[in-house]
Amino acid sequence: ADMDASRLTITKSTTPKPLVAPQDLVFGKTFTDHMLSVEWTATDGWLDPKITPYQNLSLDPATCVFHYAFECFEGMKAYKDSKGQIRLFRPEKNMARLSASSQRLSMPAIPEKPMIQLISKFLNVDERFIPSEKGYSLYLRPTVIGTQRSIGVGPPGSALLFVIASPVGPYYPSGFKAVSLEARSDIVRAWPGGVGDKKLGANYASCIAPQLEAAKKGFQQNLWLFGPEGYVTEVGTMNVFFAWLSRTGKKEFITAPLDGTILEGITRDSVLELARENLGPEGWDVIERKYTIAEVKEAADEGRLLEAFGSGTAAVVSPIKRIQWDGGMERRALGEKGAVEINVPLSPGSETGPIAQRMWNWILERQYGEIESKWSVIV
Ligand code: COI
Repeated sequence: ADMDASRLTITKSTTPKPLVAPQDLVFGKTFTDHMLSVEWTATDGWLDPKITPYQNLSLDPATCVFHYAFECFEGMKAYKDSKGQIRLFRPEKNMARLSASSQRLSMPAIPEKPMIQLISKFLNVDERFIPSEKGYSLYLRPTVIGTQRSIGVGPPGSALLFVIASPVGPYYPSGFKAVSLEARSDIVRAWPGGVGDKKLGANYASCIAPQLEAAKKGFQQNLWLFGPEGYVTEVGTMNVFFAWLSRTGKKEFITAPLDGTILEGITRDSVLELARENLGPEGWDVIERKYTIAEVKEAADEGRLLEAFGSGTAAVVSPIKRIQWDGGMERRALGEKGAVEINVPLSPGSETGPIAQRMWNWILERQYGEIESKWSVIV
């Protein structure tokens, strides 16, 4: 059958959890009382949706998700506005991306309308977990896994879509903290024709080992490069933006284009639209094109580099203060001697630059309904 939100059944938890005080929230550690699940089979389509108490899954060890990584997910947030209304931010974009990720793994398309209706019902059931302070929200994790009980390599004949929810605080509770990055030329996050533009768990798992190596050297994240040219693609789990003066002195705000190697960030898209609207009139060119780490380095050396930050749902924006680049494969072979330092300016006495600071405001005032926006959906 088609997914039908009107067939939802709700089983309430009999053991409500205590709420964690907002200031004690740790990202992704505590979850609400309930979860939303919809099973799918190749023969019957979507079965009746369920909201149940939050609980363990019980799966046969031969289930295909454990063997061939049939797993994709979304990250989105529910916000409570000053009137106590629950809001989502561009949820149709999350559903479209989940559908694209799921289909890339030979799992079903995800219908947007009934899913947003079901998520709305879920949010109403677990409403008490949505913090009302600005900067706080309920992080939602829609997930699709293949549940076919077989280690034969093939399309899953069954899948489970579930949504869990975790109350979260601001990523930077005591103000921005600019990050240092390691940019290396020997490890690649994504490649043309690959799945770097899909939100597959496997894309994240494989980025942890390089991050741990970077952490040993004192860097918080990796700046992901591609190819011998050293194209700048992403930072950590986020899209990345640079602001600089071009060689001819034009103000440019730049990010990589959606060429299949870039996660199609909803925050990325929002940053671009808000930049065109608000920075455009200030003389900024807002540009999506391939650009290299050598261009960033040259801009820094010539005093033209102005700012850099990551964008994502979890942190919204994440300012960057320093990049250590191995210099490309040939210089990398020289070890420490080949490494190149890039310092990114910050506002005086601050851990952010002016664009990141303003962008954070522009996005949050829309997410929390302080500014009317077509992006904010009351549920
Ligand atoms: C984001 O929202 O920036 C992410 O993609 C991080 C998430 C996987 C926790």
